[in-house]
Amino acid sequence: VRKKWVIGNWKMFTTAATAKQLAADVVKGVGGDDRVGVGLCPPFPYLPIVAEAVRGSPVELGAQDCYCEKEGAFTGEVSPWMLADIGCLFTLVGHSERRHKLGESDDIINRKVRAALDAGLYVVLCVGETLTQREAKRQESVLLFQFDAGLSGVTAEALKRVVLAYEPVWAIGTGKNATAEQAQEVHHHLRRRAAVLFGAEVAEKLPFLYGGSVKPDNAHALLTQPDIDGGLIGGASLKAADFLAIVKAGLP
Ligand code: PGA
Repeated sequence: VRKKWVIGNWKMFTTAATAKQLAADVVKGVGGDDRVGVGLCPPFPYLPIVAEAVRGSPVELGAQDCYCEKEGAFTGEVSPWMLADIGCLFTLVGHSERRHKLGESDDIINRKVRAALDAGLYVVLCVGETLTQREAKRQESVLLFQFDAGLSGVTAEALKRVVLAYEPVWAIGTGKNATAEQAQEVHHHLRRRAAVLFGAEVAEKLPFLYGGSVKPDNAHALLTQPDIDGGLIGGASLKAADFLAIVKAGLP
C-alpha cells in the first residue's frame, strides 16, 4: 500500500513570526508519528525558519516552486539546487496559480520538473482542468496533456521521486471540492496513463494527491479512496488545528 501524504501549501501567506508558530504547532501536533507523511511549503523567505522548526521531526520541508536552471543570470528566480542546499526535500511544480496567474507553459513546467529531479528533490507535479474545460467535457484530454507534457523526458527511475497532485482549478480556494468519486476517477485514469508510459509497477507506486478545498469535514471521504494517496492543502493548512485534523483523516 502507498503511504498517505498531506502537504500544506501556504501560498503567499504568513509572516516570519506566524510561519514559525504555525510550523511549531504542526510539529507538536504530529509528534513522532510518521504513519502519514507531512510536508509544509512556506513562502521562499521563510524556508530557513520553517527548516529550523521542523528539524528532528518527521515533518518535511518543501518549496512552492523553483526555476529550471542550476544557476545563472535569472533575476528573482530560485534554483532547485539552492532549495536542496537549505534542506528542502521537495518542491511543487506547475501549481494552477502559476499556470494561470503567472502564465507558465507546459514546456517550462517540464523543464522545472527535470531540473528539480536533477537537483535530487522530490517533485509534486500539479495538474488540473478549469471549469470551462470541465463543462466542455475536455478535462480528460487537458489532464492527459498536462501529465504527458509535465513528465516528458523523465525516466522510470526518476519517476520514483515524483508525486502527482490533481487540483481541479474550479475547486481551488472556492470552497467547492471535487467529490471523492470525481477525484478517484481522475486519479485512476492518470495512473493507467502512467502505466502506459512508465510500466505498471512504477505506476502502481506513484502517489496521487488531491487538492482543492480539502477541509477537515471532507478529508476522510477523499483520503479513503483507493487512488487518492493524500492531499495538497491550501487554505486549511494555515490553521494548525484544521491541517492536523486532515493529517489525522489520512491515518491508516
Ligand atoms: P485550497 O488550495 O485548499 O485553498 O483550495 C489548494 C491548493 O491550491 O493547493
